[in-house]
Amino acid sequence: MEPEPQERLQAAFDATIARHDRIEPRDWMPEAYRRTLVRQIAQHAHSEIIGMQPEGNWISRAPSLRRKAILLAKVQDEAGHGLYLYSACETLGVSRAELTDLLLTGRQKYSSIFNYPTLSYADVGTIGWLVDGAAICNQVPLCRTSYGPYGRAMIRICKEESFHQRQGYELLMTMMRGTDAQRAMVQESVDRFWWPSLMMFGPPDERSPNSGQSMAWGIKRNSNDELRQRFVDMSVPQAEALGVTLPDPELRWNEERGHYDFGEPDWEEFAAVISGNGPCNAQRLAHRRAAHEDGAWVREAASAFAARSTEEEVR
Ligand SMILES: [Fe+2]
Ligand SMILES: [Fe+2]
Repeated sequence: MEPEPQERLQAAFDATIARHDRIEPRDWMPEAYRRTLVRQIAQHAHSEIIGMQPEGNWISRAPSLRRKAILLAKVQDEAGHGLYLYSACETLGVSRAELTDLLLTGRQKYSSIFNYPTLSYADVGTIGWLVDGAAICNQVPLCRTSYGPYGRAMIRICKEESFHQRQGYELLMTMMRGTDAQRAMVQESVDRFWWPSLMMFGPPDERSPNSGQSMAWGIKRNSNDELRQRFVDMSVPQAEALGVTLPDPELRWNEERGHYDFGEPDWEEFAAVISGNGPCNAQRLAHRRAAHEDGAWVREAASAFAARSTEEEVR
């Protein structure tokens, strides 16, 4: 008996995933796969856009012209990342305007890390080193994700993220070669950002209910705990080279495992921050809403111009 058309479509989809090949926008895909991707890519796009705020906070107070130029370039890159990702999401049939609305009304989330304040210029360095570093660990495997437009956006984003990490590390290294006060400023900043950076990989595997399905679909390539371990293993020698102490008394090399052992992040704090009760959640969303409202005239002018151009073409 001939299989039903629906079964044939599903079989073609499964075969593409099994070959580690890409699903493209015009290919048939299960509705749950599409919805999972929309949620993940949108959340990622929102994180890039909201992520401009903690560092944008320091642009007008950069300590030198050189630092200001670097920071401006980095923050602009993050805006670009947001735009590539909104575009990737639009190929799944959701518009950027809808996604923006979901963010502004709190119905879609962004990464918990951006709800922490930036209290000193050392935070610009620490964010580059640890936050962009954790983002790289999360994102490099996504270059091979099963959805074509998302994977291709990630390739370009990852190249820029490595520049972000380098500039942060270089800034911290410069401060560590400076005065005692500067070294103390770096240490204080690392103390605040270490644990929230570990939380960026999401909850432990046994409490991450959607991970299994995302891995089966080839959207995710590694589990949260695997990526967190990779990040810790990468960061410890970098912290030693910098001369800073990571604020975890349980951190030590485990010869048997060939990895560093480390302590448990405060998952209650993580839950509070993602449910809206972090130190800066309200401020970040209010700022984003105000910026969106301020930009209304640009959107109106652009659509009026687009409408007039099509009218002229028709004539
Ligand atoms: Fe980014
Ligand atoms: Fe970045």
